[in-house]
Amino acid sequence: MSDSKPCNIVVLISGSGSNLQAIIDNLAHHPRARICAVVSNRADAYGLVRAAQAGIPQHVLNHQDFPDRLAFDQALIQVIDQHQPDLVVLAGFMRILTPEFTRHYAQRLLNIHPSLLPKHKGLNTHQRAIDAGDQEHGCSVHFVTEELDGGPVVIQAALPIEENETAQQLADKVHALEHQIYPLAVRWFAEERLRLSEQGALLDGQPLASSGFKFQS
Ligand code: GAR
Repeated sequence: MSDSKPCNIVVLISGSGSNLQAIIDNLAHHPRARICAVVSNRADAYGLVRAAQAGIPQHVLNHQDFPDRLAFDQALIQVIDQHQPDLVVLAGFMRILTPEFTRHYAQRLLNIHPSLLPKHKGLNTHQRAIDAGDQEHGCSVHFVTEELDGGPVVIQAALPIEENETAQQLADKVHALEHQIYPLAVRWFAEERLRLSEQGALLDGQPLASSGFKFQS
């Protein structure tokens, strides 16, 4: 990546792809960012339609066609690497990745997770935040390492949990925040402002706090 060459971005999805859409809408005309491909492990993912509408090449790689997690991840690497990515963006890609995969894309792999990490790693985060009696909830973009939902946080957006709020109501609000912070983090990376170093995530050369940049909407 340099001034003359844009950041090649490959986005991985499994479902609706609303975060993919937010990234497309925010970065389609950015001179430093190029969304080269969208890869889904599910043929029925609506995100593939979004990619097609935006003229972005799509691939489907069904994990059920592979004998094990490693064989799938190796095939996935081959598909992704055809596009010579500078950045791989997990946008609702609902697969646990092997260390082989996360090491291959070390320092150029981002994920969005619907909780204020390190709280509520894994699934059902909205209900778990309510059940835990949390005062606030939100979402985090982080660099991916071998630890599930455990890599250095880049940016978080938080909101208060209202009394009697349902998990679905909370999910909808968090989703809207995701659509703001993920394009921003991808933009920072494409502009070479965001990096993962041995000291953790750096923005403009400065270490970010362990909970990342605090997004204010
Ligand atoms: C998003 O809420 C994202 O945070 C979550 O999947 C959803 C995908 O929505 N990801 C995870 O839970 C990963 N652990 P989208 O397909 O509409 O972007």
